Amino acid sequence: MKKILVTGGLGFIGSHTVVELQEAGFEVVIIDNLLNSKIEVLDNIEKITSQKPEFFNLDLRNKKDVNHFFNTNLIDGIIHFAASKAVGESVEKPLEYYENNINSLVYLLQEMRDHNISNFIFSSSCTVYGQASELPITENSPVKPAESPYGNTKQIGEEIIKDTCKADHLNAIALRYFNPIGAHESIKIGELPLGVPQNLIPYITQTAAGIRKQLSVFGNDYNTPDGTAIRDYIHVVDLAKAHIAALQRLLDKKNNQKFEYFNVGTGKGSSVLEIIHAFENVTQQELNYQIVGRREGDVTAAYADTTKAQSELNWKTEKTLDEALKSAWEWQKRQS
Ligand code: WQD
Repeated sequence: MKKILVTGGLGFIGSHTVVELQEAGFEVVIIDNLLNSKIEVLDNIEKITSQKPEFFNLDLRNKKDVNHFFNTNLIDGIIHFAASKAVGESVEKPLEYYENNINSLVYLLQEMRDHNISNFIFSSSCTVYGQASELPITENSPVKPAESPYGNTKQIGEEIIKDTCKADHLNAIALRYFNPIGAHESIKIGELPLGVPQNLIPYITQTAAGIRKQLSVFGNDYNTPDGTAIRDYIHVVDLAKAHIAALQRLLDKKNNQKFEYFNVGTGKGSSVLEIIHAFENVTQQELNYQIVGRREGDVTAAYADTTKAQSELNWKTEKTLDEALKSAWEWQKRQS
């Protein structure tokens, strides 16, 4: 049984990927520093799969701890989620973002080199494209100057990985996520935003749950059919399965280059107002919202061309937007 390390494996996308890895027959070990996740997620993963992953409460910036981990664990591949990911916060605290996201990655890659581990999946983001000049966005769309230090750490991360693949035995795939939403059908794991949610869906579900008074829609003067910004909202379970497909590609040595990257989205764009109306329809709940000014750094529209992932990873989304929104609402109702 192949043993896969998932860093940040107690986070939103990480935990859903751990579940899919276990169900695909992999042994999973998690490293997480619990700064942006909760230890209860470990038990909830076990409730879903009846397999409790090994867990190490480590910070990847602690070189000594990380080296000890790799000296005592034989790993066949790594899926790397552990990073700070709040766009707005990264603008206020750039050095914390560069120190955490870049140092963690470099130390991890050094250990991979020293322990001859060659299969690496990197959690990247569609923010590397900025406002793409053509839609849907393909992998050939140019990478644009990042709008935030967070987005920049993803771009720099990809460059570091690309150079390391050239120099060492490393084979890597970067998955450029669009907007992950929803929760596992068991409703035992889901998104756990700390504090006031930055992202649209958790803000919507917390407003519907009465935790937030009103959703602010950031701008309705965009050049889109209804004036609100368009994104590609992908069910987090579909996103998790894309990681399994990418990992299997490397394990089976089917990759065409040592460093590859794929857009992971549904291929369909939805505006903020369309999301609100879909949520109201799925939950039969009216949502309290108001239109306010644009949010700094937001792009007008971003949705994926999924041709490459479909043909090379043999992967495509299976869940609908309504299923994602319904699972997000069911998950919200379970939160105390
Ligand atoms: C979606 C749309 C907002 C909140 C970010 C990161 C990306 C990834 C996903 C990590 C936008 C609007 C939002 C609100 C609103 N994160 N909105 N009111 O900005 O597309 O992507 O999260 O990998 O890297 O950049 O997602 O959910 O914040 O916003 O109107 O209270 O909803 O303006 O149009 P975004 P989001």
